[in-house]
Amino acid sequence: MRVRLGPASLAEGPFPRPVLAGSLPLLLAFDGRGLVAAERACPHEGADLALGRCGGGRLHCPRHLASFDLATGAVSPGWSFRGLRLYPVEVAGDGLWVRLPV
Ligand code: FES
Repeated sequence: MRVRLGPASLAEGPFPRPVLAGSLPLLLAFDGRGLVAAERACPHEGADLALGRCGGGRLHCPRHLASFDLATGAVSPGWSFRGLRLYPVEVAGDGLWVRLPV
């Protein structure tokens, strides 16, 4: 399912940037090559990842400092919880879109 996130100007950052896909809270991040959308709650204990930091292709959680690979969602070594759910983003003439599983 393709859902519009808002105007294409959202792609200009800053990142991580909180967005809504309908009622689903996500964030936009830049993985070093392009934009990606991710779930906003950390899979560890639910911290708001929009308050984290992007760098080196990773998203860093603000609470316990685990980080996630923005290409694969994999969590940094030493953690035993699942990786971050990522969703592809498209920039089109009519705005920014995310593709969610149905
Ligand atoms: S809540 Fe994100 S690493 Fe613990």
